[in-house]
Amino acid sequence: MDRLRIKGKCRLEGRLRVGGAKNAALPAMAACLLTDQPVALENVPEVRDIGTMGRLLSHLQVKVEHPGTRSWRLEALDVPEPEAPYDLVKRMRASVLCLGPLVARFGRARVSLPGGCAIGARPIDMHIAGLRRLGVEIRLEHGYVEARCAHLRGAQFPFPGVSVTGPENLMMAATLARGETVLRNCAAEPEVSDLADLLRRMGAHIEGDGSDVIHIQGVEQLGGAEHSILPDRIVAGTFLMAGAITGGRVGVEGCRPADLISTTDLLERCGCRIERAENSLLLEAQEPLQAHDVRTAPHPGFPTDLQAQYMALMTQARGSAIITETIFENRFMHVAELQRMGADIRVTGRHAVVRGPTPLEGTKLMATDLRASASLVLAGLAASGETWVDRVYHIDRGYESIEGTLAGLGAAIERLPGPPYPSA
Ligand code: UD1
Repeated sequence: MDRLRIKGKCRLEGRLRVGGAKNAALPAMAACLLTDQPVALENVPEVRDIGTMGRLLSHLQVKVEHPGTRSWRLEALDVPEPEAPYDLVKRMRASVLCLGPLVARFGRARVSLPGGCAIGARPIDMHIAGLRRLGVEIRLEHGYVEARCAHLRGAQFPFPGVSVTGPENLMMAATLARGETVLRNCAAEPEVSDLADLLRRMGAHIEGDGSDVIHIQGVEQLGGAEHSILPDRIVAGTFLMAGAITGGRVGVEGCRPADLISTTDLLERCGCRIERAENSLLLEAQEPLQAHDVRTAPHPGFPTDLQAQYMALMTQARGSAIITETIFENRFMHVAELQRMGADIRVTGRHAVVRGPTPLEGTKLMATDLRASASLVLAGLAASGETWVDRVYHIDRGYESIEGTLAGLGAAIERLPGPPYPSA
């Protein structure tokens, strides 16, 4: 298992180019199951979760080609055994995105229940309730969702809570349903709209994505398409915060500043200077950073996927910041590790109060999930001495060589192969 070694206190300066969004690329890959024509995707990030989705599609007998960096060609001529097994689903919850497309096109699907994960229970009850509303007969047996339906029929479905992959799954299924489907209380995340763009290129009739009500008029069949995945706003936000935590100056090229408004506004309130251009952002940290409260919320609110990184930043800001996590019930695993570095953080329920600035000291740390790990890397950049982050595979799920990008900005960071730790 690889680990990262970071020598802190280097000011970051420079520019990076952000790749495509993993959370848009995963549903886009699943969408290939809706047609027997090839779907060609560009700007797909070279991260572990994408490899896992590629393996799942290969398992389903999809012809999976990866002809060049960041480009994939997927052709689902037939799926004789529409089953997503536990071994693959447990690695990545987003595997459940195969459920809607499989049952819509092939009339049946068997997908393992993903179970909980480090950041909470994360059920898929809304995906299941929505598919049932489209006429799918669903049984839960032996840890699997068994779905059957000869022809899905359009229906109204109000999501009882705001979800991202829920509407994505339902939207894909509804493209091949008979009649109109209206999904209410949908997440307005840019990744949902990126999927809708791809589906429209494939011939689907979809309106309203980007708002909370999505209308889908079912069609007989979909065709192939080419599509370039939108830039990753979470990766962009992570590197802006890396710049801020080191008192640096970091430019992010190839992003969509409009998708990052809640993040850049917040960083400005903390005292950073932000320059916005059409496809790029430039952050210049001003001393001292000011603490500012934040609540995570569905888009266009502040994303839960940047909460951990922002908490690392607040350890270096003057004052106290109350960080409220409203999306997941257990997304503060990074707190204990940040405390071990010397951070002053107190958690009560869904609130964390961070008092700063506190000097952080490098130590050996354990990554627990994707974004928590990114926050530990940020803390390591600000800490004195050496920080070791173990279990880097969590970070590799969503960042393309985080150490390479940070080193390009002047960080002293390197990846080293697994145990044992050198004696302290
Ligand atoms: C997606 C993102 C993830 C992000 C999250 C919230 C992908 C691949 N992942 O995850 O990075 O952190 O949105 O922005 O796009 N819930 C239910 N029942 C359901 C579905 C969800 O109770 O059927 C709950 C979840 O437990 C959670 C909340 O709803 O508390 C939001 O979850 P959801 O938006 O569905 O998360 P994902 O789509 O899995």
